[in-house]
Amino acid sequence: MNVNIALLAGDGIGPEIIAQAVKALDRVARKYAHNFTYREALVGACAIDATGDPYPEETHKICREADAVLFGAIGDPKYDNDPKAPVRPEQGLLRMRKSLGLFANLRPIALFDTLADRSPLKAVVRGTDFVCVRELTGGIYFGRPQGRDEGGDRAVDTCTYSRQEIERVLHVAFRLAMSRRRHLTVVDKANVLETSRFWREIAQQLAPQYPEVELDFMFVDNAAMQIIRQPTHFDVIVTENMFGDILTDEASVISGSLGMLPSASVGSEVALFEPIHGSYPQAAGKNIANPMAAILSAAMLLEHLGLTAEGSAVRDAVNRALTEGIVTEDLAAQGERRYSTSEVGDFIAAHI
Ligand code: IPM
Ligand code: MG
Repeated sequence: MNVNIALLAGDGIGPEIIAQAVKALDRVARKYAHNFTYREALVGACAIDATGDPYPEETHKICREADAVLFGAIGDPKYDNDPKAPVRPEQGLLRMRKSLGLFANLRPIALFDTLADRSPLKAVVRGTDFVCVRELTGGIYFGRPQGRDEGGDRAVDTCTYSRQEIERVLHVAFRLAMSRRRHLTVVDKANVLETSRFWREIAQQLAPQYPEVELDFMFVDNAAMQIIRQPTHFDVIVTENMFGDILTDEASVISGSLGMLPSASVGSEVALFEPIHGSYPQAAGKNIANPMAAILSAAMLLEHLGLTAEGSAVRDAVNRALTEGIVTEDLAAQGERRYSTSEVGDFIAAHI
């Protein structure tokens, strides 16, 4: 298969981990006789430095022309500590999601057996295997009005959702539930928020189209508790943009390390694959960051293109690295050797 992949490495550890994912993809291409071509493009702080724009038109064009996008991370401390910065790397990420129509973000949370002892929740995490479908292009992240009033003494963010925005992401979640254990949990704050009540109403209206799916509802505060109290309760969670952002960082702890979790963003156009961790600026350039989430994002990319055997081969190689202890410092046991980002990437590529 010929696949044209846009590579958006971004900031911080992005370039190092994406390089490892490319090693894995190159190995897959050789082994299964595919032809993968890559086009690199700028996003985030590095794009601001080079062009003044965190998501330049050229990047958008490269993404639109690609069969899939592999993305690293964005963010730089120089913006985090400057709330008045006129342009921010995050604006690039949000604009990219919006303009590529990536309205559903799938974040699988599964425990790697070899890491069960590392999880601070080890008594409850065995058997954890759920996917969080996060609405990605609406809600309070994009609501208008947003900003300060003239005196600057009042700030406003607005949460809005249209029926169409809710319906399309609920359909993604219902269909995903059908392909899994057929249990869907809508997470909201319907006891307080009108947008949440609208989500509930629409979920109830769509439910008859998926009679085999067991549908339930949970308030977000309770969900935050249940995710660490009894994570095996969940199969598919669907929720609005900001709740999904927060709950998936929380859930990542279950897997043993935030450095393990990939994600897929899908919608009307090209799909995008990215690790859920951020740009981890403290580690940038040190060759110590865990590349597994980026490599597993590449596995999701392959599976999305229908290359399931190839995706499994990548996952098996990651599991092999875990079993043999070929891991970066976030996963290395006390007194065990800590491998570098590129050593882990080399090992995984060699075992595909
Ligand atoms: C994520 C990140 C982003 C988000 C930030 C960097 C804007 O936390 O992808 O989860 O909040 O969506
Ligand atoms: Mg986040």
